Amino acid sequence: PAAPRTPKGALTFTPVAPNTADAVTIPSGYKSSVVIRWGEPVLPGAPAFDVKKQTAAAQAQQFGYNNDYVAVIPLDRHGERALLVVNHEYTNEELMFPGVKSVADTTAEHKKIAMAAHGLSVVELERVGDTGQYRPVKKGKRYNRRLTASSKFLLTGPAAGSDLLKTKADPTGTVVLGTLNNCAGGLTPWGTVLSGEENFNQYFVGGNGAPAAEQPALKRYGIDITAAVPSGNRRWDLVDERFDLSKHPHEANRFGWIVELDPFDKNSIPRKRTALGRFKHEGGGPTISNDGHAVVYLGDDERFDYIYKFVSDKKVRRGDTKHNMTLLDSGTLYVGKFSGDSPAAEIDGTGKLPADGAFDGTGTWIPLVRGNESLVEGFTVEQVLINTRLAADKVGATKMDRPEDIERNPVDGKVYVALTNNSNRGATGAAPADEANPRNSNRHGHILTISEKHNDAAAESFTWALPIVCGDPKDASTYFAGYDKTKVSPISCPDNVAFDKAGNLWISTDGNALGSNDGLFATPVSGSEAGHVKQFLTVPKGAETCGPFITPDQKSVFIAVQHPGELEGATLDTPKSVWPDGQYARPAVVVTWRPKGDQRIGS
Ligand code: FEO
Ligand code: CA
Ligand code: CA
Ligand code: CA
Repeated sequence: PAAPRTPKGALTFTPVAPNTADAVTIPSGYKSSVVIRWGEPVLPGAPAFDVKKQTAAAQAQQFGYNNDYVAVIPLDRHGERALLVVNHEYTNEELMFPGVKSVADTTAEHKKIAMAAHGLSVVELERVGDTGQYRPVKKGKRYNRRLTASSKFLLTGPAAGSDLLKTKADPTGTVVLGTLNNCAGGLTPWGTVLSGEENFNQYFVGGNGAPAAEQPALKRYGIDITAAVPSGNRRWDLVDERFDLSKHPHEANRFGWIVELDPFDKNSIPRKRTALGRFKHEGGGPTISNDGHAVVYLGDDERFDYIYKFVSDKKVRRGDTKHNMTLLDSGTLYVGKFSGDSPAAEIDGTGKLPADGAFDGTGTWIPLVRGNESLVEGFTVEQVLINTRLAADKVGATKMDRPEDIERNPVDGKVYVALTNNSNRGATGAAPADEANPRNSNRHGHILTISEKHNDAAAESFTWALPIVCGDPKDASTYFAGYDKTKVSPISCPDNVAFDKAGNLWISTDGNALGSNDGLFATPVSGSEAGHVKQFLTVPKGAETCGPFITPDQKSVFIAVQHPGELEGATLDTPKSVWPDGQYARPAVVVTWRPKGDQRIGS
């Protein structure tokens, strides 16, 4: 008899075993290469990288540090050329500069280099041969761009111009210098890139000297209001005074936004979209509702923080970039409330499934702002959008286990949320396990799906479920959609999610609590193979896996290797990872492809 046919889009690759190698390890039959690494030229004429002769002026023209979000946008039908858009989330000064053991050792020039190593890069790529491999073009004159902690950004939307956003340097409350801690992001259906400003709190000093009335909000956002200089602070205030909140208390309010960038126009000024609220934005998952409104799903990555959704007032107009660039300036901002359908007594915090056999239930989107109207008692529109966490606290949103990346599956229409972990769940004085966050001391995280009513992204109610509860499959508290756990790869701390054309879920991890390196995983989400999680690649020691991005032709998967060698006691001079060059570690974007036969990623 004929062998059973392999379904289209099947994940037939041989999984990579967990390991602690100082390498990118990929399945047999695949190839991978570094596309671009920290310090390589981005702007035409940028100097070549020299670790011993770094300058801020050079870094501002070179690829930044700690690449996180990755988008690859084809510039032609066959993707012979493409734009790579990358976030540079943060800096590891001890791994960047000779003789520096910690940020306390950095000079003024080091601080300026670090500022220039933040932000985003746009890099034009070209395909290598007839494969899924890409490399930067020689002179990226037309599109290449660096945005840093000093570039110009505009605040737009209902909170722009608010008194809470005004500073001495910007009495209009609309012009900000820089973007900070850009973590994940999203590619909009209208061709722009969203970028989430996440842990911006860490860049400020002087919280204790900010006006007393503003301190509770600063504190809710993780800014230290007890010390003049929080420990481990980079002290950028010493080279740029605006990072001192005792002198410029509103400067911190100008970070924590979703940035929208038009990568096709290198002269465009990126916008910080206040209508999408201010919190520790992981990223943005854009989609379009059934009747054409733009929708963005948003995660606030902090223990016990929330999942949000924005629905635009206006509709997307195909091909009208100018119009579409206004969509994220007015709409409704919601926060999610998740209710379990099993008796609370059956959720015992161990991860044991309730009697109905599933962690699942129903939910509602609670509106916080509609257009220019606040729906939160005691909050103006500006207050809701700038201090969104406080508004969401007030309406009884569900405290989640660190909402990270959120993406809608283009095949089944469900919205997939990575909840990375929450070691404090169930701790004394903290929220106990609930059906949507069912494990106390949740070290390994889980995946949550939202099925909007009528599969409409603009709906105000939904059902939800947890298809995957992560960890070592031998651990009874894990769940893989009911799949045979002996065949599943261990997975811990999901961070970013993506989908291939067949609707398979791809998950990258950050902080593997099982003792091996982080990596990239893939699993079908429906049919008899649902829950069959397989590890596709692993990243070097000390790194997390960011991206992932699968190109529209399905021939390339891009990942960002972030903070390789970020391990206790490691420095540039005494590294614990020397990936990729053999001397010291450099964050880099990597592409993986299949040179022969079925070139489809996952085959
Ligand atoms: Fe920057 Fe939430 O990871
Ligand atoms: Ca249930
Ligand atoms: Ca992340
Ligand atoms: Ca993370």
